[in-house]
Amino acid sequence: MGNSKSTSSFANESEYAYQPARATDSRSPCPALNALANHGYLPRDGKNIPPEVLQRVLQEKMGLSWIATKTILRQAYKTVGHDGVLSLSDLCYHAPESIEHDGSLSRLDAYLSNNKQGTFNQERFNKFLSFSKDGKYLTTEDVAAARLYFKADSRANNPQFIWNKDIEEAMWTEASILLHILGKHGQILIEDARLFFEQETFPQGWQKHPSFGVRERYSAVRALKSAARRLEK
Ligand code: HEM
Repeated sequence: MGNSKSTSSFANESEYAYQPARATDSRSPCPALNALANHGYLPRDGKNIPPEVLQRVLQEKMGLSWIATKTILRQAYKTVGHDGVLSLSDLCYHAPESIEHDGSLSRLDAYLSNNKQGTFNQERFNKFLSFSKDGKYLTTEDVAAARLYFKADSRANNPQFIWNKDIEEAMWTEASILLHILGKHGQILIEDARLFFEQETFPQGWQKHPSFGVRERYSAVRALKSAARRLEK
């Protein structure tokens, strides 16, 4: 898990108890944003969030660097923002330019799920976990293998499969953030992955890592891509 004590203004943990989302709350295809809302770091109803709120939470609570946060938020507000805010479910928007894409680790493709691409799918997630070779950890190689598998599966079975260079890059970036934020030394405990994806909460005692910035992203993406190349040989 993470290895630095949080010194942020979110230090008073008792204010941020976990409450699962209610039916009327807005939630996204992103387990991290949903977890932040389930804990009240983001508005619990997930609605009408200005970029400054996300910027602060992602930097202070999740340890994303200023630039990493800015980059993803710029794309999010450009594609799904309205009147300067967004609600988490807006991020379900499915298009060649959207952050949401086919071939996910825990959600079905829009076309194959009657537009339920924002909803957690247990069977899909179990398939992701089945890539763990030891049943205890998901390593960088396991995550790379899962990503390749789901992409190929969508390409073969989704007649409206959308893919492009940006989506390819986003797919590896998401995986790299996952390994960095939730894991340690390039691997994630299965137990922690279950809490994060299934309950959309943080493992007990989780603390953010030191900043995840351009350098960290580059090196984690490179590790994933070389694992993928070895698997494709
Ligand atoms: C520390 C920050 C973040 C972490 C750890 C994180 C993690 C993840 C992970 C692991 C997925 C893949 C889910 C899957 O394949 O089933 C994902 C998907 C997604 N994330 Fe995040 N995320 C973060 C920040 C953000 C931000 C800032 C946004 C936009 C405002 C965002 C939007 C999305 C969207 C739209 C998806 C769906 C992609 C797909 O269709 O698979 N995420 N995120």
